[in-house]
Amino acid sequence: MQTSGAQDAIWTVEAVLRWISGDFKARGIDSPRLEAELLVSLVLGCTRIQLIVDRDRPLVATELARIRELVARRRKREPVAYLTGRREFYGHEFRVDRRVLIPRPDTETLVEVALERTRDHSLFGRMLDLCTGSGNVAIAFAKERPTWHVEATDISPDALEVARMNALRLGAVWNVRFRRGDLFDAAAPRPYDLITANPPYVTLREMQEVSADVRDHEPHLALVGGEDGLDVIRRIGAQAGAHLVAGGVLALEIGCEQGDATRALLEGEGFIDVRVDRDLGGRPRVVSAVHPESGAAFDPAWD
Ligand SMILES: C[S@@+](CC[C@H](N)C(=O)[O-])C[C@H]1O[C@@H](n2cnc3c(N)ncnc32)[C@H](O)[C@@H]1O
Repeated sequence: MQTSGAQDAIWTVEAVLRWISGDFKARGIDSPRLEAELLVSLVLGCTRIQLIVDRDRPLVATELARIRELVARRRKREPVAYLTGRREFYGHEFRVDRRVLIPRPDTETLVEVALERTRDHSLFGRMLDLCTGSGNVAIAFAKERPTWHVEATDISPDALEVARMNALRLGAVWNVRFRRGDLFDAAAPRPYDLITANPPYVTLREMQEVSADVRDHEPHLALVGGEDGLDVIRRIGAQAGAHLVAGGVLALEIGCEQGDATRALLEGEGFIDVRVDRDLGGRPRVVSAVHPESGAAFDPAWD
């Protein structure tokens, strides 16, 4: 895209989109046209639909310079969600940056399962979302269940800053609280009706095979779950029962090959009604289970 000098070509919206898509396609980037549209609409401050309406509009030099800068970053495999600073999840627009994992569509299954398995619980239930990252699971759940009290925790103070900002922007402040801590260290001494987590579960071997977008840009703390990917899942399975009411639900996102191991692990910890749900692509994605006994004692002095 040559834009300097006296013989400048006139770059219309459509010409720029075609040029970027071709460049991205040649570099093996998935969905090149979509990504081109996301970047150009970001710079022009318009919707993707508006790009069609304005397809013949010429771009000015400052717009082209900003687009070139974004294209250069994408060529270095920086994920498009970090370039635009946003990603849609469960119908809400979340702000994201390098401090948090980019919410994946597959994780919407975790929210669905959590909602479905607590449908008959109290109107004033209590939820704990471990490993909250951008706060996507906690906030999406809280928006569906505004009468519930939701606590969301993460070990990363950087991630919690992003999560708090998302709760503020999405109007989920009054019933969602964020705390920092290593898994249950930040939990309240009062049992929950629901515990969710999308923990780091990528194995060391898988980590060597992930795309450069993920490997070079997303936080490794959010991804790696040890040799077999189950380090954090094992810890959650062992401790969750002590933090659930009788009949409380634990729902965990897992890697698609971890369904059987996680099921066995939860059954070994005394959970019943263990279920493995599949994501939109048909892969095992969420393991959920019920704890038959109350774990922690209610402490009315707390809060
Ligand atoms: C896979 S990301 C999930 C983020 C978000 N919930 C989502 O679904 O996109 C895992 C998150 O777990 C956090 N984490 C990793 N180890 C942790 C630990 N020991 N205790 C609490 N959080 C942890 C990371 O900081 C990261 O934000």
